Amino acid sequence: MTANASAETPVTLLGLGAMGTALARTWLAAGHPLTVWNRTAARAEPLVAEGAKVADGAAEAVAASTLVIVCLLDDASVAAALDGIDLTGKDLVNLTTTTPAEARARAAWAEERGARYLDGGIMAVPPMIGIPEAGGYVFYSGSRELFELHRESLAVPVGTTYVGEDAGFAALHDVALLSAMYGMFAGVTHAFALIRRENIDPVAFAPLLVNWIQAMVDPSVEQTARQLVSGDLTTDVVSNLAMQVAGTKTLLATAEEQGVSAELIQPQFALMRRLLATSTGEEDLTGTVDLLLR
Ligand SMILES: NC(=O)c1ccc[n+]([C@@H]2O[C@H](COP(=O)([O-])OP(=O)(O)OC[C@H]3O[C@@H](n4cnc5c(N)ncnc54)[C@H](OP(=O)(O)O)[C@@H]3O)[C@@H](O)[C@H]2O)c1
Repeated sequence: MTANASAETPVTLLGLGAMGTALARTWLAAGHPLTVWNRTAARAEPLVAEGAKVADGAAEAVAASTLVIVCLLDDASVAAALDGIDLTGKDLVNLTTTTPAEARARAAWAEERGARYLDGGIMAVPPMIGIPEAGGYVFYSGSRELFELHRESLAVPVGTTYVGEDAGFAALHDVALLSAMYGMFAGVTHAFALIRRENIDPVAFAPLLVNWIQAMVDPSVEQTARQLVSGDLTTDVVSNLAMQVAGTKTLLATAEEQGVSAELIQPQFALMRRLLATSTGEEDLTGTVDLLLR
């Protein structure tokens, strides 16, 4: 399909929140005929001047295009918006953030109603939509055939990364990355708390923190991945577990000295101590991954 052929593909978009509105503008700018629906109709009005057709209801919007994209608050809002609507022959692409189980159930639900289904997890915030250099993308999973068919239309707002036929995998990748982000934020929060009462300029401290995190993250993430695949946890270990657990005492004592709660870092240290209790201490932290499995 050429870029021009893709631009002729009509798109229906359900949901004009912050994200849906940003997505809508990119399809309009790229020349796609776009039909939109939002529960609160007023949110659609600004898009009319940009060329969107506003449907009277979700059913009318769904009927307008084969490619139906949904970007609503959560899975319950998807169920509410699509309740009782004929999906026969539709290509349903759900960009709503859900759990993997919700995505799988929604895929089965859509297929029972005669639609093909693709799930998406958006790795971007609205200002990144339509700005390729911002680096945002969407994880897609579910029907590969559907992904390939609509790949160019889906790539209009933001990059695309297909992660498998299992409809739950986009959500799982999305949540895994977000969970890692919050772990990183926890460390950043603790670091700023440690310096908070001192005569240290947080603005001067920030690049030191950023550079340190960046220097640590690449090698440690890649090493963990390699070790999880090989099962060899002791080759190429740079900072062994025994040394690291000993070092946590200094980190906890420093938090105490600075009058800072260790509540954000304690859980990881507890996991490291549990691992050391069953290990020679020659490995690094990869073994904590499997300690989390229930
Ligand atoms: N914003 C971000 O930074 C970001 C980043 C990545 C992923 N996402 C995901 O993108 C999705 C949309 O986010 P957003 O930022 O656009 O959220 P938002 O601004 O809060 O908009 C929520 C949308 O869901 C609709 N909605 C809520 N409950 C509904 C219901 N029961 N029935 C029908 N429609 C309902 C709202 O309609 P009304 O206008 O009528 O309330 C609105 O269109 C979410 O799943 C979010 O996790 C967002």
